[in-house]
Amino acid sequence: MEDGRSEILKADGLYHVYESKAEDGNVVALRGLHVTVFEGEAVAVIGPSGSGKSTLLKCLGGLMKPSAGGVELAGSRMTRLTGTQLVELRQRTVSFIFQDSNLLPHLNALDNVAQPLRHQGIAPGPARRKAQGLLDRLGMGERSRGMPEELSGGEQQTVAIARALITEPKLILADEPTGALDPITSREVLELFEKLHKEEDVAFFLVTHNREVAAFCERSLELRDGRFVAQHGAELDIADLSGSRELIIDDTGTVTLPPDVLTKIGGPGRFELPEIERDSLNLERVDVERLQVEGKANLTLAQTCPACFHIYGDSEEQRCPECGSSRPMVQA
Ligand SMILES: Nc1ncnc2c1ncn2[C@@H]1O[C@H](COP(=O)(O)OP(=O)(O)OP(=O)(O)O)[C@@H](O)[C@H]1O
Ligand SMILES: [Mg+2]
Repeated sequence: MEDGRSEILKADGLYHVYESKAEDGNVVALRGLHVTVFEGEAVAVIGPSGSGKSTLLKCLGGLMKPSAGGVELAGSRMTRLTGTQLVELRQRTVSFIFQDSNLLPHLNALDNVAQPLRHQGIAPGPARRKAQGLLDRLGMGERSRGMPEELSGGEQQTVAIARALITEPKLILADEPTGALDPITSREVLELFEKLHKEEDVAFFLVTHNREVAAFCERSLELRDGRFVAQHGAELDIADLSGSRELIIDDTGTVTLPPDVLTKIGGPGRFELPEIERDSLNLERVDVERLQVEGKANLTLAQTCPACFHIYGDSEEQRCPECGSSRPMVQA
């Protein structure tokens, strides 16, 4: 509890390893993450491709069992529930929105949206009426009889979003929810999210590269290589992350510095801790000279994005404008 609010979602020490028999071996996708989302809070997760965002979302939503660690949804520990209890808890509490809409191909838009209510035992008439109302609100009212294959990518995603909202969930877990939408539809969806968030206290946990989506959230967590490396406050501007930086130290004591912080402190090296106090850590570089001799401190911002090969040129941007990946440091 914080400020009298209870936690809608809480994860402790989440690890996930994808086991593989291939030569490159197992992939450790999550490395001991702690996540807390309070009722009615909106949290964004940002991070480069492959950093573990989708894996995290699936573990948090109970779609995948983490290799270690526990997840509590609305106060129930998911790993302790039977299959039926888990389905029931998810139906009551949480909805998912994925980047690909995952619509049922043999049902029209209206029936896709009504389907979660039908699963809850609600009769077809009322379920369809509510579905139509939601599609109207999202500007899709006239396309409600269309089959998924007849709808554009953006329309399919809008239908998927309506389907996620129809059960009035307390928490929405979304993986790039507006990734496939045109800017106008995307903004309409955000307005609806904002309304649900403000007026109906719906909590959001969103993976996004989109600045407007992240700005709608109160907090953003930055994931890199399966660890949270920073947390950013409200009114986030993804292009300017350095202002409100926070570091997260995990259970193993590991800290990962974001690349721009690493540049600011003068690159990698050895540090002394002259004073160690509770809640405070002071670093002092001890081997600057030796590092300079070895040329190790001579790091510079990478010229191309390792994820999407965007060319930065002379710019000093810390984050790829194309794919949102953090810009790494490389040897000059
Ligand atoms: N089914 C799988 N089997 C093996 N490895 C996987 C599997 N799914 C994901 N991975 C690996 O786990 C890591 C994290 O993947 P994940 O899909 O969670 O990243 P992401 O942050 O969602 O990336 P993106 O932004 O591209 O969607 C990556 O190294 C990925 O290659
Ligand atoms: Mg992903």
